[in-house]
Amino acid sequence: MSEFHNKTVVITGAAGGIGRAILAKFANEKAKLILSDFDTKALDELAADLRHNGLETHTVAGDLREQAYCESLISTAIAETGTVDVLINNAGIITRGNILETSDDDWARTMDINVNAVFYTCRAAIAHMVENGGGAIVNTSSTWGLYPGPNHPAYIMSKAAVASLSKCLGRDHAGNGVRVNAVCPNEVNTPMIRTGFAIRGFDADEGVAELGKSVPLGRIAEPEDIADVIHFLASDAARYVTGTTIEVNGGKPVY
Ligand SMILES: NC(=O)c1ccc[n+]([C@@H]2O[C@H](COP(=O)([O-])OP(=O)(O)OC[C@H]3O[C@@H](n4cnc5c(N)ncnc54)[C@H](O)[C@@H]3O)[C@@H](O)[C@H]2O)c1
Repeated sequence: MSEFHNKTVVITGAAGGIGRAILAKFANEKAKLILSDFDTKALDELAADLRHNGLETHTVAGDLREQAYCESLISTAIAETGTVDVLINNAGIITRGNILETSDDDWARTMDINVNAVFYTCRAAIAHMVENGGGAIVNTSSTWGLYPGPNHPAYIMSKAAVASLSKCLGRDHAGNGVRVNAVCPNEVNTPMIRTGFAIRGFDADEGVAELGKSVPLGRIAEPEDIADVIHFLASDAARYVTGTTIEVNGGKPVY
């Protein structure tokens, strides 16, 4: 039987590019899935498909800018399945532009979704996991959260906070059997990066292919490349890994 069979896995940003690849990994192992996203329609479609395949799936649609919504992900998981074994904080937004181009609202929205939501879900999940004898949390930072690139200060600072928070929590709760790590992708072929090309008037496929030439492994990441590492960090294969960040960058440094 697979490791995550009947385990409860909470995934934020489940309807996004990387989110869909993450849920496919855990669905393959017949985990009980608690799916969070802003996009109600996409969540409903995903859940219908998963249920059709016999999987226990619960959707909790809402806005991660709201503390009560963040906490409801964990309380719903416990109410519906009795527990939370794995929390994957994958949702995030990219805020482009230098500081002069970053409005108060851009800053607040970025911190709310990329940082505060991670804090609220981690706190609620860890409270339960400590009582329950353990669990695993994987947060999504970015290589840019470790080595700042140009002209994205709000995004980069938010991802640095996620990396730091993950290290703190991993260390603080190792003794409770709760492992916390962060994955740090560089460029991934998802709507997040493709919209950047569209905004600048480029064809997204051509942009992705061109960007791939700057990566030593010859292409930017596909969502599955990131989902595999997240799955590893959540799994018992990573039982001695906590309080750390893992770069998934195809060998490409941040310039
Ligand atoms: N794509 C990349 O190149 C890249 C690189 C490094 C890190 N990341 C990180 O990976 C994670 C996933 O990114 P992706 O590329 O799959 O992006 P994506 O835009 O495809 O998916 C993000 C998902 O989060 C959801 N979301 C956004 N704001 C929300 C809110 N307020 N409430 C609820 N849900 C909300 C969206 O609806 C979307 O489904 C993000 O944290 C991102 O910062 C992505």
